[in-house]
Order: sequence, then C-alpha cells, then structure tokens
Amino acid sequence: MNILLLRANPRKGGYTQRVCDLVAEGASEAGAKVEDVDLVAKNITHCIGCYHCWTVTPGRCRFSDDMPGLLERMLDTDIILYATPLYYYSMSSTLKMFLERTLPLTTENFDETPQGHMRNGIRYPERWKDKKIGFITAGAFRSLDNFEALRRTFALMAEGSEAGLCASLIRPEAYLLQFELAKPKTVRMVETALKRAGVELATAGMVSEDTEQKVRLPLAVDQEHLLKYSRIYWEHAVAMGEEARDLTAVQRAVVGDVRVLMSEMARSIDPAASKKLQAVLQFDFPDKDWHFRITVDHGRCVLKEASSERCDLRVTVDTAVWAGVFTREVNVRDALMQKKIVLEGDKSLFTRLDRYFPPPVS
Ligand SMILES: Cc1cc2nc3c(=O)[nH]c(=O)nc-3n(C[C@H](O)[C@H](O)[C@H](O)COP(=O)(O)O)c2cc1C
Repeated sequence: MNILLLRANPRKGGYTQRVCDLVAEGASEAGAKVEDVDLVAKNITHCIGCYHCWTVTPGRCRFSDDMPGLLERMLDTDIILYATPLYYYSMSSTLKMFLERTLPLTTENFDETPQGHMRNGIRYPERWKDKKIGFITAGAFRSLDNFEALRRTFALMAEGSEAGLCASLIRPEAYLLQFELAKPKTVRMVETALKRAGVELATAGMVSEDTEQKVRLPLAVDQEHLLKYSRIYWEHAVAMGEEARDLTAVQRAVVGDVRVLMSEMARSIDPAASKKLQAVLQFDFPDKDWHFRITVDHGRCVLKEASSERCDLRVTVDTAVWAGVFTREVNVRDALMQKKIVLEGDKSLFTRLDRYFPPPVS
C-alpha cells in the first residue's frame, strides 16, 4: 500500500505531528510505503482562480512551483492522508492553499456525484479509481462539533473525487496528550489506537470505526476538568514566554503540576477500598501557598482548593517533591526522614493512600 502523507502543520513538534508520527509508524511497520511530505516547507503559490488549468493548458497551472510534482504524487499513490491542526474549525491555510491548487486535477465538465451533489469533472478518472483519502487533525477543544466543518469538507471532497474516505482521525483535547503522568492509561490507549490506524490503513486500506473512536477518546473526565487543565497549561506557557515554543519544556512544567495531580488523585478513589473511611486529608504546598482538602466519605471523595484547621491527616510538602513521589523519582521513606514530607495527625492514613487512591498505571 502506498500512502502519501501531506502534512500541513506549521508548528513542528506539536500535536498534529505527534499524532501523524504514530499513524505513519504503524503504517510503515505493517509494510506500507509512506511518503511523508511537509507542505509547509514547499513552495506553493496561492490559486488566483484564472482557470488557466482548464482553458489554456488543460491539467497544468500557469505557476511553476512545487505543485506539479505534488499533483503527480497524488495521482500515483493509493491513499492520500491530509494532516492539519484544527484552525478556526477548519484546516490550516497551508492545506487550504494546497487544495485550491489541485484544480488542475479537475475539469470544466461539471457533473453529479453518485449521491447527487454537483462537482467539477474528474480529469484522470482512471487514476482516481480505487484511490482513497483520509485526514488527521488535532484540536484544542473537546466537542466533536468543533471538527464538524473539517469532517464535512473531507467527506465532500471524497465524494467529489469518487475516492473513498478511509480515515477520519480526530484528536480533540490535544493539549492533554501532555498529561502523561496523570493519565498514563488513556494517553497510552490513544497512542495505541493511532498506531493501529496506521496498521489498518496499510493492511485493509481503511481505518475501522472502533479505532477512530479510540483515537477520539476523551482525556478529561468532563468539560470542567478540560477548562481547568487548559488554564494550568496556559499559565505555564505564558510564564515561559518564548521558551514555550519548545513543547517538551512546557510538558516538563505541566506534567508535574500538583493541581492536576491532586485532581486526578481525587478522581482515582477506590470506592471499595475506602468504603469504611471517613476522613479529611489536608495537603499543604508551602512553596506555592497552595492548599487542598480531600474529604473522603464512605467511598466518595470531594477535592477543594482550601485550607482546613481540623483534619485527620496533614501532609506538608513542596510541589516538586510531591510530583517526584508520583513519578517515583522521590523515595517516600527518604523524603519523610529528611523532613521533605511532614505528616501531622493519623500517619497510618498516609501509608494507606496508595490503597484508597490507586495510582494510575500504564
Ligand atoms: C490560529 C489558530 C486557530 C485555532 N482554532 C482552533 C479551533 O477552532 N478549535 C480548536 O479546537 N482548536 C483551535 N486551535 C488550537 C489548535 O488546534 C491546537 O493548538 C492544536 O494542537 C494545534 O496543532 P499543533 O499542536 O500541531 O500545532 C487553534 C490554534 C491556532 C493557532
């Protein structure tokens, strides 16, 4: 299977790239020949709508830039995979510019699609026979409505060219792919599904509905969490300024943010293990002046950003040390001995935390 991956993501090292890399990796490992093209680096003039490619030199544009070679590669391949970040509910201008310049592949002989929609004529019908198109996108927001215009565009394009739509790979909540520490299981499931999408393209020429759904799996439990985590993400990025262009640097800052870790910890409560427990756990982070109260009431748990005078257990610890406990980089016993973690109240509760709040595992 030959796959032409047309990447139109201006930001390098971003989520579109991460998502594409996994699909390409899966496809290559399963035996497909993936031709990876960075459209952003190509010299592509925008279409001026002169119809030269229909009227004067049929099939050929008046501009000689990188497009003629790219059109030839589109005609030659089995699958065309377009990749774009979601920009204003649609595609990046790089991809839009590219698509407009594919007009030479069509003709002035308008006709109808089998579904009854009007379209331009297809210039090389025999070379579109059995061809498929698909798309990959990453966007920040949660709802799938957000991606509807893009999805509809590719569905119409597939219909218009009589190519089958073989992949609609949509990754909402893209920022949350950085929260690997808090969400190792779900992030891993999404990554596995993306690789699987590549394998399915290579072997069946089509991504299954099940795999497409797994690629879109929500990472935040609800919109409120997404908003909270997004604010935390942007707080770090704004504080880092120009340095935030390096996404791995942002990830280092975000991944160990205890506001996220505490939130995920509270969510991870094991109702069975804590069904007899009624307790108030207070976590104080003096380096940031952050305070969290976790109230456990017979298997249920409420997290509040608040101090409490009265609690059953008080844990006082700096944020970096607590993040290190999550990453297992900090040995809890040593940190207790060195008074980097200070406990007051029922210390036995602390030793049972792992049981009440099982840590997420990959
Ligand atoms: C100009 C611009 C417009 C955007 N519009 C949307 C949007 O409509 N919906 C959305 O979910 N995200 C939107 N985003 C966020 C991006 O989709 C998100 O950051 C995505 O991760 C970008 O892909 P990248 O990480 O490969 O750069 C926008 C970002 C930019 C820069």
